[in-house]
Amino acid sequence: GKVAVLMGGHSAEREVSLMSGQGVLDALTSQGVDAHAFDPAERSLDELRRDGFDRCFIALHGRFGEDGTVQGALELLHVPYTGSGVMASAIAMDKIMTKRIWRFEGLPTPDWRLVSSADETRAALAALGAPMIVKPSREGSTIGLTKVTSVEQCDAAFELAARCDPLVLCEEFIEGDETTCPVLGEGAAAEALPLIRIVAPEGNYDYQNKYFTDVTQYHCPSGLPEAEEREIQRIVVQAYRTLGCSGWGRADVMIRKKDRKPFLLEMNTSPGMTGHSLVPMSARAAGISYEQLCLWLVAQASL
Ligand code: DAL
Ligand code: MG
Repeated sequence: GKVAVLMGGHSAEREVSLMSGQGVLDALTSQGVDAHAFDPAERSLDELRRDGFDRCFIALHGRFGEDGTVQGALELLHVPYTGSGVMASAIAMDKIMTKRIWRFEGLPTPDWRLVSSADETRAALAALGAPMIVKPSREGSTIGLTKVTSVEQCDAAFELAARCDPLVLCEEFIEGDETTCPVLGEGAAAEALPLIRIVAPEGNYDYQNKYFTDVTQYHCPSGLPEAEEREIQRIVVQAYRTLGCSGWGRADVMIRKKDRKPFLLEMNTSPGMTGHSLVPMSARAAGISYEQLCLWLVAQASL
């Protein structure tokens, strides 16, 4: 059948999505799949039916792509798509909603406050302590994020995050190892891939260091004790299942230095597939090539 690789779109992560989509498109084409780029910023999704597409690979990131909206449109159009459904996508896009569910389920996530003003941001700093992360609840790739170390930074940090999203999340900063763990599958069949440990210069794994520099080091195998990695994978699979994710996802996890306790930061339901991205790196360590991963995801596409 004919596959549309949905990419670009209207979110702040458009540029990243175009890189992910191009990678996926090249991989599928190299495997003989009749795949075509489809940019929802330029075309309307109802053209998918008209142009005879049988399924979609969603390589969109952020809002209008990773958040359940496109998934809902594809449901209405009856075009099967990769990854999570409407509800899991919508929940996972919203870090605050995700954290509420994880906390309710007893899964570890850093303490947080939802704030709607600079005043509330200062109050959050008093409650959570410094350093504190201030970020938009529904954004990706570190866009709009500030690590606040003093009360003077609260106003600017709130303004920056609120420019991206009226829902602003203040989160306790966890000092320790930064890791990420992909998951493939669904329900009881969901399985974690190897953990990646990320070492960014001065801890700044930001937009530039995620995609455009080569200064970040990625360790996969992670080099963590085997029992510790297995325990984190177990928690990540639970975190994925409890949100109702399917297809694939990637959880970002901090391991606290002082006691090695893992903390879930968020679940990405349409993870990056760029040349610098993490799911392909981890899959490779598990013996799954980028091409195999793309083919598998397309085969899993569903409504
Ligand atoms: N939000 C980016 C694309 C990622 O998580 O990989
Ligand atoms: Mg993210």
